[in-house]
Amino acid sequence: MIQEKLYLKGDKLLDIYGYEFKAIKNALKLGRENTIKKVKESELKGRGGAGFPTGIKWEMAADIKAEQKFIVCNGDEGEPGTFKDRYLLEERPLKVLEGIMIAAYAVGADKAYIYIRGEYSKAIDVFLKTIEAARKEKILDDYFEGSDFKLELKLIRGAGAYVCGDETSLINSIEGKRGRSRIKPPYPIEKGLYNQPTVVNNVESLCCTAEILNPDSEEFSQLGIKGSRGTKLLCLSGDLNKPGLYEVEFASVTLKEIIYDLGGGLKEGENLRFVIPGGISTAIIKSENLDFPYSYQDFEKRGNSLGSGAVIAVSKKHDLLDLMLNVSRFYMDETCGTCFPCREGNRQINKILKSFKNDGKKIDAELVSDIGNTIRLAARCGLGQSSLNFIISVIENYQTDLEIGGKLYA
Ligand code: NAI
Repeated sequence: MIQEKLYLKGDKLLDIYGYEFKAIKNALKLGRENTIKKVKESELKGRGGAGFPTGIKWEMAADIKAEQKFIVCNGDEGEPGTFKDRYLLEERPLKVLEGIMIAAYAVGADKAYIYIRGEYSKAIDVFLKTIEAARKEKILDDYFEGSDFKLELKLIRGAGAYVCGDETSLINSIEGKRGRSRIKPPYPIEKGLYNQPTVVNNVESLCCTAEILNPDSEEFSQLGIKGSRGTKLLCLSGDLNKPGLYEVEFASVTLKEIIYDLGGGLKEGENLRFVIPGGISTAIIKSENLDFPYSYQDFEKRGNSLGSGAVIAVSKKHDLLDLMLNVSRFYMDETCGTCFPCREGNRQINKILKSFKNDGKKIDAELVSDIGNTIRLAARCGLGQSSLNFIISVIENYQTDLEIGGKLYA
């Protein structure tokens, strides 16, 4: 049921001399077009949370004619509950590096950036050493193994802003500007870093491409089901007996099995109330509705998303209002403030929740949903668009409890 081996193959920490770079060598042998074809055929979807098909993104970027193109590896993992990229950066840096090289080769970029969350000091340290060793070994900055492919790679350290996980804010941050989102379209593949075509891919997505192109890992794209191929790293946290990082084959497990088998169920004496399936930018799923396969389409069918793979189990011991206030405060603090709906909307939601907490003033669910819809439709980036998914889903599912007034327990 659990595929544990895929990422564990081949690359021992910083063993650059033993690492064979089989996937990039294979890509060079296949050529740009066939490399992209292979990634497209694998049906890989972006693992950062949005699930956009990686092969299509690469193909669109490859088709654009430009003097300069960039690859950006997004390692600014800020979604609360998510820690998979941290693991890959610390423990599998060569696979991340190889993924960046494959992406650059495929789209015709000779410059790349890796942007790592500032708090991940070990990951930054490991990756700086990886880059240094790769330069020394002529894997970077020089034509790779006598081919016509050469790549410069720089590491950028984030400075603690959640919004910089949004690709356009991250691009502004690399350019030395304030981490504020840009309006899309144009998408970064057309006008990204320094207005040049830029492919931004998540760390896990790039590791997947290194598996897909590795001739020894043919099985990767055979795993899962149509529309949900390969494996997904899951970050289990909350009130579970066995929190941690797991890798599952898509559709081979249900969300219920993820909670009760992988996660070891709830801690003694606790009862599950709901699961946050993909970080706090996703809607909750009540404990009685978990029995469905873990796949992109099964989440879509339920109007939800598997997000970045942060599965948080929430037991009945928690006060619903406190949870909502916590999430609301997070978004109010982390909005970049550029667009009015996100800045003001999140502030108003916080005010509504606070006046319920402090003065017992009933939550007007309709008003909250109105503000939520406005932010979702009018905010310019993913932060705003998904900022109320959690709060609105809690209110929708527990409206009766909330209307009891003050006491939120069922
Ligand atoms: P998005 O759907 O706007 O874009 C996803 C990717 O596809 C981007 O690279 C975008 O440039 C590309 N894309 C989409 N449509 C395109 C088109 N027509 N042409 C060319 N390229 C196109 O989603 P976004 O805003 O990038 O990400 C939002 C998601 O991020 C949320 O759903 C959330 O789950 C996740 N997230 C993850 C975090 C983490 O720490 N991993 C933190 C916060 C949010």
